[in-house]
Amino acid sequence: MSHHPPAGGSAGRATAVSPANIAFIKYWGARDLERALPVNPSLSMTLRECVSRTTVEYSPTDGPDEVWLGRSGAPGTRTDPGEAFSARVLAHLEALRRRLGIEPGSGRFRVTTENSFPAAAGMASSASGFSALAVAASAALGAHPDPGELSALARASGSGSAARSVMGGYVEWPAPGSDPDDPHAAQVAPSTHWDLRDLIAVVETGAKEVSSLEGHRRAPSSPYFARRLADLPARLERVRDALRRRDFAALGAAVEEEALDLHVMAMTSRPSIHYWRPGTVEVLQAVRDLRRDGVEAWSTMDAGANVHVITLPPHEAEVASRLEALPGVRSLIRDGVGSGPTVEVEPIHSTEDESE
Ligand code: PMV
Repeated sequence: MSHHPPAGGSAGRATAVSPANIAFIKYWGARDLERALPVNPSLSMTLRECVSRTTVEYSPTDGPDEVWLGRSGAPGTRTDPGEAFSARVLAHLEALRRRLGIEPGSGRFRVTTENSFPAAAGMASSASGFSALAVAASAALGAHPDPGELSALARASGSGSAARSVMGGYVEWPAPGSDPDDPHAAQVAPSTHWDLRDLIAVVETGAKEVSSLEGHRRAPSSPYFARRLADLPARLERVRDALRRRDFAALGAAVEEEALDLHVMAMTSRPSIHYWRPGTVEVLQAVRDLRRDGVEAWSTMDAGANVHVITLPPHEAEVASRLEALPGVRSLIRDGVGSGPTVEVEPIHSTEDESE
């Protein structure tokens, strides 16, 4: 914590490209939902194709923050994202001001963001979006947070999974030993450790009925929640150990079991949440059939209907052609482990900018 009074930042602009991630052990249930303090540790694989691209421009002259969907520099493509989305981004900007030592409400942020994949359909759009926002905003302000602090900045959005997306490879959050009241993530292994693939069978492109925030809120109402928490330490250890040894059968079994457990929690919470669609069941069955035929593939899902099929490079083509042939699969995204966000800082030349 700085003892200096908070100052306004200097003008700057940065564009971050941040990937989504797929959780092998899921964040489900919070001790404090607003601050995204999780009930249990989670572990994910950072992706490389499903990304949010976010440009943040900061001007020290006070004015209302702005949020746009689209691509910065392509004005004709910009659209208003709607109130609910804007409200979450504006709240995150305030949290970033607080953490980066800028007076509340001072200066003006202009944010333009777009996704490479369907948002709010169990595809961790909040993870990539808020990770990109934290990375771009700190770069626009000339701040240089270390990876742990960057992770905490992303978590300040209220999306816990965003805390994992600021790092590449395999990531655990909270990092063992990190402050329980300000938890950040840590990389368990870099992307080069193991080239896993994630074929995302998109069976639904619309927004899901119940947000993950609402899911976290309802989690403790499942009569099986205490049983889940009791099972989790051993399952997390199985995932860590399988990753360490690159044991795909052990990893896949633990990951598939965990995804089903998450959906049991959702379905048995009160009121009950049903994320599955007929296409979901088709894909889950196809993955079991693939294994019966000797093709190593395992399924997992976040809080949505789409299924992530985890496989190894030699099986990717076979898995893809089987999934694409299913009537319920609208499209297939071929993704895999990635190395984390990238950021570009661009100089800006505005009249308010005293530099140059
Ligand atoms: O980060 P949130 O609040 O959107 O929650 C993520 C919830 C899951 O995607 C279901 C699990 C996870 O760990 O990513």
